[in-house]
Amino acid sequence: MPQTETSGLRSLSLFSGGGGLDLGFERAGFEHVASYEIMEEAAQTLQKARPDWLVHGGSEGDVRNVDFKQWHGTVDVIHGGPPCQPFSNAGRQRGHLDERDMWPQFVRAVREIRPAAFVGENVPALGSAKFSEYVAENITGPLSQNYHVTSVVLQASDFGVPQVRKRIFFVGFRNKKIANRWKTPETTHYWGDAAIDDRAQRCMGLREALGLPDIGLDDLSPTIRSSLTGPRHTTSILNSVAAQRRFEKLEIWPNGVAADRESARAFLAKNGHFRLSVPDVALIQGFPQDWPFVGATYMTLGQIGNAVPPPLAYAVASSVAAALRK
Ligand SMILES: C[S@@+](CC[C@H](N)C(=O)[O-])C[C@H]1O[C@@H](n2cnc3c(N)ncnc32)[C@H](O)[C@@H]1O
Repeated sequence: MPQTETSGLRSLSLFSGGGGLDLGFERAGFEHVASYEIMEEAAQTLQKARPDWLVHGGSEGDVRNVDFKQWHGTVDVIHGGPPCQPFSNAGRQRGHLDERDMWPQFVRAVREIRPAAFVGENVPALGSAKFSEYVAENITGPLSQNYHVTSVVLQASDFGVPQVRKRIFFVGFRNKKIANRWKTPETTHYWGDAAIDDRAQRCMGLREALGLPDIGLDDLSPTIRSSLTGPRHTTSILNSVAAQRRFEKLEIWPNGVAADRESARAFLAKNGHFRLSVPDVALIQGFPQDWPFVGATYMTLGQIGNAVPPPLAYAVASSVAAALRK
């Protein structure tokens, strides 16, 4: 993920979490205006990573309390991933009946600020038939009154992240001409035998990305848990039974993730499989190794698991910048 020169385009971040989208937008040349995030630890992570950013955390970061009109005229792009639990396959999928549904707040922010563009992100289940009515009524319907809105599902491994992880992005532009020149980000990596495009590079498998010895097979990591869901305080990144099977095959232990590599090495998994640490999980999600996640292990795993992998965020942010800049 290179650092693109500053474009002069300004971005405001909502539901910033540990900063996957924020970092991707920064690397794509956006000037950071402010972040809003209700979870103190996640806001602290952002502030530690970027001391010069304006980060609102805790109740100050609660988007429900913000009068967004204050940002009118100072923001080109709003981006954010409202909590995915109301829609996630791993949750109860109660949509708007779930009090964590924050899409109405995202829509309010866009309407009050009226930026040139927005990017809203979520789990791919939001693009499924089950939620088509929800999306039409609460996202595309209200936003289409002033924006040309498209949605696209992207796969993280197509952008070099060693994990199977799909996310849906709603991208909207106020100006029709700009909307028409926006292009879905081009795949930069491939997994498997053959490159579809000779410009794409091979994506690393999980074992290779973690620098583990060759055991005769490798694969992408299964989708890691978008945690802080399910039992609190979990230090497992497991999302499903299928994920467990894949980790087993790769001889990697996805439970009891250690705070750091030294503790992981000192605390062997019973079956001899490789015990993961927080920096390993950050790597599986495409974060730089020096991104300073703050909080207890389960909190840092929550911030990592909730994030848009930065290389994927970078690809989306770059595509939006390219459309706006021309
Ligand atoms: C899916 S995560 C976003 C991850 C982020 N886009 C990234 O790439 O790292 C959703 C975030 O919304 C935050 N959140 C939930 N309710 C909120 C609220 N009312 N105001 C601000 N943030 C909120 C959660 O704490 C969580 O960190």
